[in-house]
Amino acid sequence: MSKLDKVTLTAGDKNVELPVQHPVLGQPCIDIAKLPKETGCFTYDVGFTATAACKSAITYIDGDAGVLLYRGYPIEQLAKNSSFLEVAYLLMNGELPSKTEFDTFEHEVTHHTMMHEAFRTFLYGFRHDAHPMAMMVGMLGSMASFYHGSLDLEDAEQRRLAAIRLIAKVPTIAAACYRYSIGWPIRYPKNNLEFTTRFLHMMKEVPSEPLELNPVAAKALDLLFILHADHEQNASTSTVRLVGSTGANPYACVAAGVAALWGPAHGGANEAVLQMLEEIGRPENVGSAVAKAKDKESGFRLMGFGHRVYKNFDPRAKIIREMCHQVLNELGVNDPLLEVAMKLEVAALKDEYFVQRKLYPNVDFYSGIIYKALGIPTEMFTVMFAIARTAGWVSHWLEQQTDPEAKIGRPRQIYTGYAERDYTALDKR
Ligand code: CMC
Repeated sequence: MSKLDKVTLTAGDKNVELPVQHPVLGQPCIDIAKLPKETGCFTYDVGFTATAACKSAITYIDGDAGVLLYRGYPIEQLAKNSSFLEVAYLLMNGELPSKTEFDTFEHEVTHHTMMHEAFRTFLYGFRHDAHPMAMMVGMLGSMASFYHGSLDLEDAEQRRLAAIRLIAKVPTIAAACYRYSIGWPIRYPKNNLEFTTRFLHMMKEVPSEPLELNPVAAKALDLLFILHADHEQNASTSTVRLVGSTGANPYACVAAGVAALWGPAHGGANEAVLQMLEEIGRPENVGSAVAKAKDKESGFRLMGFGHRVYKNFDPRAKIIREMCHQVLNELGVNDPLLEVAMKLEVAALKDEYFVQRKLYPNVDFYSGIIYKALGIPTEMFTVMFAIARTAGWVSHWLEQQTDPEAKIGRPRQIYTGYAERDYTALDKR
């Protein structure tokens, strides 16, 4: 079959030819930019289910085949061979680093881990029981105020530095938010440690005794960071891009990304999964949970199930499921919730409702059990996602800044309000 190069749309008695763009991988896209001019109509696509909003060379997903590539590399290979920081470099720069390039990148990230001391005053203004994600949104939003002198978006080096600062400081801020929420003193980053171990130290170490950290924990968390690092135009990344399209600074863009990530339909699902598993409590309650999820009246969904793009399986979930058993074994953790999760997965996967709708476990289904085994509290789960996704957000933001086709994001609407009417004076209402 020849390559589709145009589509003809008939609008009344007019035929409009629309060019078709072909990506390196994936489905062709009909370029509809000239539609309003040619037909006087806009297109309607709630939730962008049929719309590509940009060109990107960073991440590719084939939802039917369960394929996820970062810069062309399969997620399975990166999960097996790489580290989060190397993946962050790859996402940002497009290629795997040489040894020297990686050392330079690691040195740079490591030496930007400190927070400005004034952050503390800011942090201490939150209520003691604030959710760490609420603090993250505020703290990241405030970052621009500390780097006001290096926010010239026309300057490639300033853009790159902002990306490095975000990758480096988000873990420091995340750990600080957590420690504040439990009343522990904030720890400074230990720059003799590598990225993920350093974060675990900042989060867990108490001043009164040395921290005995099982290397299995850091390795498992690093792997989770790799799996969460990017996922093309998901809701939070699209938010970063939409804010970025206005020319806003990168810290504001990433703070907006954190806010979008927080929702339970997106990154907040990992926290919701654990709450759901705890509520189900025992394997014998799985049947009623599945029945409730199928009942639209209940308003309950199986958290960690379903995905807009993956309609076969989520390759990240496959890796995490295997890893979950291994990590729990190696850490000597026996969590009854794992049994509940496994039974729930089996029950849902053979249920007609889930089969018909192609609903499979997603990245968040098993990740919470691993976080729990690592001693990370539930309210920090989405923060973990934010640390990892920062690498993706900054890479997309950098890409957008040099995209010659980029313009301000400005969707249209189908207006459903009143037609024009006259103002009614107060005494006549
Ligand atoms: N449990 C029960 N029913 C579901 C679920 C679920 N988890 N997910 C989708 N459905 C049903 C939904 O009710 C609809 O049924 P019907 O066709 O009868 O109306 C059908 O499946 C299609 O669902 P949708 O909401 O139109 O699909 P979507 O692509 O808009 O939503 C989703 C994708 C991930 C938001 C959704 O599957 C969901 O809410 N899942 C639970 C939350 C979750 O795990 N989110 C994490 C996503 S992966 C990580 C990330 O991106 O952050």
